[in-house]
Amino acid sequence: MALSAVFVFLGLAHGHMIMNRPVPFNLGNVSLSPLSAPGGKLPYPCQGLTSFDYRTPVVAGQTTLVNFTGTMPHGGGSCQFGINFHGEPYTTNPADWKTIYTIIGGCPAEVTTASGNLNTTGVDFAGRNESVHCGDDKVVNCIRQFNIPFPVDLPNGNHTFAFTWFRKNTAGEMYMNCAPISIIGGASSPANASAFVDGLPSMFLANIKGFTNCTTNTTGEHGVFNIPNPGRYGVQLIEPDPAAAGSCPVAPPAP
Ligand SMILES: *[C@@H]1O[C@H](CO)[C@@H](O)[C@H](O)[C@H]1NC(C)=O
Ligand SMILES: *[C@@H]1O[C@H](CO)[C@@H](O)[C@H](O)[C@H]1NC(C)=O
Ligand SMILES: *[C@@H]1O[C@H](CO)[C@@H](O)[C@H](O)[C@H]1NC(C)=O
Ligand SMILES: *[C@@H]1O[C@H](CO)[C@@H](O)[C@H](O)[C@H]1NC(C)=O
Ligand SMILES: *[C@@H]1O[C@H](CO)[C@@H](O)[C@H](O)[C@H]1NC(C)=O
Ligand SMILES: *[C@@H]1O[C@H](CO)[C@@H](O)[C@H](O)[C@H]1NC(C)=O
Ligand SMILES: *[C@@H]1O[C@H](CO)[C@@H](O)[C@H](O)[C@H]1NC(C)=O
Ligand SMILES: *[C@@H]1O[C@H](CO)[C@@H](O)[C@H](O)[C@H]1NC(C)=O
Repeated sequence: MALSAVFVFLGLAHGHMIMNRPVPFNLGNVSLSPLSAPGGKLPYPCQGLTSFDYRTPVVAGQTTLVNFTGTMPHGGGSCQFGINFHGEPYTTNPADWKTIYTIIGGCPAEVTTASGNLNTTGVDFAGRNESVHCGDDKVVNCIRQFNIPFPVDLPNGNHTFAFTWFRKNTAGEMYMNCAPISIIGGASSPANASAFVDGLPSMFLANIKGFTNCTTNTTGEHGVFNIPNPGRYGVQLIEPDPAAAGSCPVAPPAP
């Protein structure tokens, strides 16, 4: 009993960064670890987590706050936000995860010190190390928050929102955690909504055996990874480094 409690605590204490708003599945137990190698064992998608007490309402055509917690952003990285529209629990087909916004560099922090990580300033309710929050999407050396636009053409209903992240010096990892949401104010015609959703690119995958053969560069120091096919909505906060791509497709430079 005591042993397993210690084990759970250590499991929670390890790690990197998670999305904490919209409130994710299993917020108390969601892992800060990557889905994937080296040593990653968490399943794609969403670490396999599905339990929740709170569903975040989202209004299509407006922005929604996305917030994070953790102390190890490894300098920053590139992230995507997307939605699975295939009911609940979400489906595992990568083509069902549609990108609504992509951030190249500076997500979920930009850290300018050599370690690339933040100082611990406390712990969150689940005992995870926590650091200073920027309160916006620009300040460095703190945890950022983003107001992510949800396109007005999205279909209404209960869906699953996802955050994926490739950190700087990608280390062959991919991070993901997910949240149940309810969209209102979106497309009133299901046909129009599905045409819009079909036009959104799938969220990019790397470093996940069985779902993709592409692996990011794990050799040496390099900058942020440029997510190929980011879609129409997003922002580049830091110039990406083609050396980060490894065997994954090299995206064209942003216009
Ligand atoms: C949490 O922060 C404390 C204080 O900086 C540190 O000693 C500890 O190693 C950190 N734990 C993890 C898992 O990073
Ligand atoms: C983690 O999950 C266990 C088992 O489901 C649960 O008893 C515990 O309360 C959860 N911890 C937190 C911090 O939510
Ligand atoms: C972001 O998360 C942190 C840690 O839980 C919290 O202290 C902070 O108030 C949150 N910020 C917003 C705007 O929700
Ligand atoms: C962490 O704290 C040290 C000592 O106060 C400071 O020099 C350093 O800049 C801090 N790191 C960050 C990322 O804020
Ligand atoms: C959405 O989920 C909530 C519970 O989280 C449920 O009460 C509601 O009926 C669901 N709405 C639809 C349209 O399925
Ligand atoms: C569906 O899209 C068409 C073409 O953009 C538009 O004319 C029509 O008003 C839309 N219908 C609804 C119900 O949104
Ligand atoms: C990965 O490569 C193997 C061997 O070439 C191939 O059989 C498999 O379909 C590929 N997997 C994916 C997801 O592309
Ligand atoms: C991986 O990154 C290192 C360091 O930037 C670089 O020298 C090397 O060429 C990169 N490998 C590939 C395949 O791009």
